[in-house]
Amino acid sequence: MLKPIRPELAEIQISGIRRFNTRVSGTLGMIKLTLGEPDFYTPEHIKQAAIDAIHENFTNYTNNAGMPELLRAASDYFNEKYQLGFSEEEIITTVGATEAIAVALETILSAGDEVILPDPIYPGYEPIIRLLGAVPIKVDTTASGFKLTPEQLEQAISEKTKALILPYPSNPTGVSLDEAELAALASVLEKTGIYVVADEIYSELHYGAAHVSIRKFLPKQTIVINGLSKSHAMIGFRIGFLMAEKNLLKEMLKVHQYTVTCASSISQKAALEAVTNGKEDCLPMRTEYKTRAGFVEQRLLKMGFEIIPPDGAFYFFVKLPDSVQENAFDWAVRLAEEAKVAVVPGEAFSEKGERYFRLSYAASFDDLAEAMERMQNFMAQFQ
Ligand SMILES: Cc1ncc(COP(=O)(O)O)c(C=O)c1O
Repeated sequence: MLKPIRPELAEIQISGIRRFNTRVSGTLGMIKLTLGEPDFYTPEHIKQAAIDAIHENFTNYTNNAGMPELLRAASDYFNEKYQLGFSEEEIITTVGATEAIAVALETILSAGDEVILPDPIYPGYEPIIRLLGAVPIKVDTTASGFKLTPEQLEQAISEKTKALILPYPSNPTGVSLDEAELAALASVLEKTGIYVVADEIYSELHYGAAHVSIRKFLPKQTIVINGLSKSHAMIGFRIGFLMAEKNLLKEMLKVHQYTVTCASSISQKAALEAVTNGKEDCLPMRTEYKTRAGFVEQRLLKMGFEIIPPDGAFYFFVKLPDSVQENAFDWAVRLAEEAKVAVVPGEAFSEKGERYFRLSYAASFDDLAEAMERMQNFMAQFQ
């Protein structure tokens, strides 16, 4: 008999988003509003840079942190866009934002440390926290417009708190934090030494005021995660950026090196093109997402759903009306089976998720229009 593997893994499930998506994937004609994957193609000039890299035999390892010219260009890009102020020595090119999250947490967490997470939240952090033997402390934000308040934060902090995870605009809610809200959270954290892991992967998909990073208020404590998956529709290239103050980054580089050595050289060439000549590539996508958001919001409101209007990303986290008596999981299963529209039940993102579902509008306008018709017909039974 084999010796037992790590017991922590028994508690960890494959993400609820993926599980639900797999469950509904076999059905013909299903409109899937389940995944957070841009439905746009990668811009041509970026694809060409990757093709050129292959033809030029740029197929070896790069420096662990990434090609120096990419790190310089990424530093400029994030300075120009969000005044992040990280030098080229304070950036690691990672395998998607996913690796950046893992490396950040593996660098700072020890067993027993507590990590504060606003709930609902993207399910990519908690399993890593648990694998490290650290303890997730969820703070329910459903009564505060899906925003963590300074009072809630203060209450959640204990002597064991090591980090706060702060993703904005948020997956799954689309809600973001403005400059004043970030400043208020920062003032609670300022003297605590607690790290902020700011996941800013949706920073380019901000519909109203420009994105502001909490680094502005907490330059030493903030670890910024970003990447090109959403902004440049480059999900499959797997390029993320992990940014932190120099001394911290040095330690992160060890974790990154012994995990992946470096990000793909070909993808790095594509990334260099994206952050150099593709600074405005996101604009048409953002305009389209915003139009879709407006359309979907109007239709959902008409059907009786409760919505907090999103500030960005491409999701709605929607509350079921009281007339629906089943929980969101059972409701979503029936919606998929009877109306052939798939959304993700809220429990994939939240301990309070039984009355919510996430709808991703990273889908074509035609699919969204058809999905809204089908949902409206389905909801007629609850009138
Ligand atoms: C908040 C958040 N962070 C990170 C990721 C992962 O991004 P990547 O595909 O670059 O690994 C996602 C993907 O959906 C996300 O929603």
